[in-house]
Amino acid sequence: MYDKTVLIIGATSSIAKAIAVQLAQQGKALHLAGRDAEEVERTAQDLAIRYQAPVSWSQFEATAYHTHVDFFEKAIAQMGQLEGVIVSLGELGDQVQAQADFSQAQRIIESNYTGVVSILTPVANYLEQQRQGYIIGISSVAGDRGRQSNYIYGSAKGALSLFLQGLRSRLAKVGVQVLTVKPGFVDTKMTFGKSGMFLVAQPEQVAKAILRARDRRKNIVYVPWFWFWIMVIIRSIPEPLFKKLKL
Ligand SMILES: NC(=O)c1ccc[n+]([C@@H]2O[C@H](COP(=O)([O-])OP(=O)(O)OC[C@H]3O[C@@H](n4cnc5c(N)ncnc54)[C@H](OP(=O)(O)O)[C@@H]3O)[C@@H](O)[C@H]2O)c1
Repeated sequence: MYDKTVLIIGATSSIAKAIAVQLAQQGKALHLAGRDAEEVERTAQDLAIRYQAPVSWSQFEATAYHTHVDFFEKAIAQMGQLEGVIVSLGELGDQVQAQADFSQAQRIIESNYTGVVSILTPVANYLEQQRQGYIIGISSVAGDRGRQSNYIYGSAKGALSLFLQGLRSRLAKVGVQVLTVKPGFVDTKMTFGKSGMFLVAQPEQVAKAILRARDRRKNIVYVPWFWFWIMVIIRSIPEPLFKKLKL
């Protein structure tokens, strides 16, 4: 039953935790990785006790690029055969502060984009050799159009969506699925206390939609589904008009 393991990177994220619960309920073996080692261990132990699932764990910092190859090799050694990898990482940051101070912008770019590219480099090479499996990358609807209120986070997510799109074409040749997830607003640590949110989804609902899209071998999924249509409208607004909106 536990012949293959799912690696979840960013395992302390609310969305990742909801995915981990649903996979553990299905009897999947998991390897959880995240930067807060204590919280990752607590989450792993909780899943192991509640669902009798084999769950291993390790520490992962997205911006510690030089550690990523070693991290992945050690994780593989603990996991045995790899079923697939889910990357649920990022910081929303503060747009106003990031406009004033590049170091804030850098944190946003590195946690949402550069760090993900770095870890997906050994992951993609491994799955390409294995000739099966999947990569699920959590991007955002914010990456579909640059908006004045969050274009630094949005640009990192937009870059991630393009990276995953290219990777998908590369890995399709060997039967490896790459799923780009574009959530709208989700009720998580990231959005806690933020104003201006609407149609807010719960992490459990988002997790279910992500796993369904994986099973259907989709390429891109908007979660909840209606964000696809919202973004069709947002993308279609002509630039001269878009500049005048306070989005
Ligand atoms: N919530 C939303 O409305 C929304 C909408 C669209 C897309 N998303 C995306 O969904 C994904 C999951 O986010 P979430 O909503 O579940 O929020 P979350 O609970 O705040 O999760 C963010 C995760 O990223 C981790 N992280 C941030 N910087 C890191 C770094 N430098 N190294 C390692 N880990 C780092 C956090 O670790 P710590 O626990 O240690 O802080 C946390 O596990 C993210 O990619 C986010 O951009 C969320």
